[in-house]
Amino acid sequence: MRVVILEDSQAVSQRAADIICQTVHQQPDCVLGLATGGTPLATYQQLVDRASQGLVSFSQVTTFNLDEYVGLPRQHRQSYWHFMHKNLFELADFNLARCFLPDGLADDLATACDDYERQIAEAGGIELQLLGIGTDGHIAFNEPGSSLGSRTRVKALAEQTRLDNARFFGSMEEVPELAVTMGVGSILASRQVLLLATGSSKADAVEAFIEGPITAAVPASALQLHRSVTVLLDRPAASRLRRLAYYERVEQLQRQLEQCAR
Ligand code: GLP
Repeated sequence: MRVVILEDSQAVSQRAADIICQTVHQQPDCVLGLATGGTPLATYQQLVDRASQGLVSFSQVTTFNLDEYVGLPRQHRQSYWHFMHKNLFELADFNLARCFLPDGLADDLATACDDYERQIAEAGGIELQLLGIGTDGHIAFNEPGSSLGSRTRVKALAEQTRLDNARFFGSMEEVPELAVTMGVGSILASRQVLLLATGSSKADAVEAFIEGPITAAVPASALQLHRSVTVLLDRPAASRLRRLAYYERVEQLQRQLEQCAR
């Protein structure tokens, strides 16, 4: 796991956009796994800016989002479908026919979940999966206790998550109880993972998933088993890491190596 501590959240979004654009440059028809939430918003703005300047094109890219609330119409302002279309897809040159989200309105949710997994496999699997993290250590909507081998399915949201996400809705009561989410196993199947965390509210979850044991109690800790994970943190999110100085030294050495290779 490569842990990169950056000065502030703006540096996190710039570096995240660099990594995503590099993937798209290397493979213009790549498959990206995308996330919602407040954290990736600035990264999406970077991608939109770079596309509008002609520095990158997403026209051949396929995307799969991690999750979607059950029961919210697509046009609901808090549906993840709406979030992705308004904050990214419609602002850059994405082919909307290649932008997929789980269907939280399907009559048969179990079949829709299996279909989603099949669609990802048929697209060749996810090259780069972008992730945020919940304050309780969840990734996508894989709440504490989720099976570390889980695949796309319906999950009940934890109270903490509903409380955290209430800021986007009018009140806690309006936050849906259920979501369709890629599983921890689906995320582990992606070839590269890029996790972003900013702000002191994420510091405990960050420390737990990077330095704690692998446990379903902290679903993000399963990423310790993945061979290619980059974690981008601002200083407040990194503030509880015990091996902070070590990560910074490794990163310095890594940068030197990259410069030597140029
Ligand atoms: C939601 C999403 C997650 C996201 C998390 C943190 O629960 N399902 O994918 O990582 O929120 O969101 P934020 O970035 O707003 O803190």
